[in-house]
Amino acid sequence: MNAVAVGHSAAGALLTEPRGWEKIRSNLSAAAYRSLITHIPLHWMRQSFLRAAGMRIGKSVAILTGTTIIRPERISIGKGCMIGFDSFLGGEAGITIGENVNISSHCVLLGGIHDPDDPNFGAILKPTVIEDYVWLATRATVVAGVRIGRGAIVATGAVVTKDVPPYAIVAGVPARKIKERSPEACKYELAYQPWFF
Ligand SMILES: CC(C)(COP(=O)(O)OP(=O)(O)OC[C@H]1O[C@@H](n2cnc3c(N)ncnc32)[C@H](O)[C@@H]1OP(=O)(O)O)[C@@H](O)C(=O)NCCC(=O)NCCS
Repeated sequence: MNAVAVGHSAAGALLTEPRGWEKIRSNLSAAAYRSLITHIPLHWMRQSFLRAAGMRIGKSVAILTGTTIIRPERISIGKGCMIGFDSFLGGEAGITIGENVNISSHCVLLGGIHDPDDPNFGAILKPTVIEDYVWLATRATVVAGVRIGRGAIVATGAVVTKDVPPYAIVAGVPARKIKERSPEACKYELAYQPWFF
């Protein structure tokens, strides 16, 4: 994202691109994680690094190897979440992930867009919120600025461009509701930390 980026955090605070040392630290953290740390087959080591970089990570979380994380200091993940192999978290505008969320492998969460009408090709940052018990199936893509409601499911290969209501199951490009999930199902506590993954 280019330097003129402006947006609002999930809490409504104005967000701008980090500057100076803040930007160097953020970029170095993301680069070191992407090129080296993400490949270390130990959960505690990868998560210790991400926490030191400012990412908020709850208990019993698994972020599997190969994932790329931009602006880790703007991302929070609640307890019991799982993020599969080789996913992409673009945290430029902030990503808030609730509890017991399952993000399958190769998912993409985008942090913003370039303004097509801006002669500087500047970015518009839009925070993303993923509520408790959401499941993003393999290769789902979530564009910036949407809220995926509690317990919703995004089918494999879907591209989410608008808010998803709680307990909806959506599929396709752009994602549309295909059915609903029972709210009664959303009571589990995930704690999936497979060795060496
Ligand atoms: C979300 C999901 C589980 C839904 O499956 P389901 O409840 O069995 O859905 P159904 O097969 O009843 O499909 C209902 C309709 O949606 C369509 N549909 C289902 N999944 C779709 C998808 N990914 N993209 C587009 N359409 C889809 C079906 O074709 C069907 O359409 P029809 O009514 O016109 O025939 C499934 O789509 C999915 O994503 N599976 C992959 C899970 C995965 O990633 N596993 C590995 C990691 S844990």
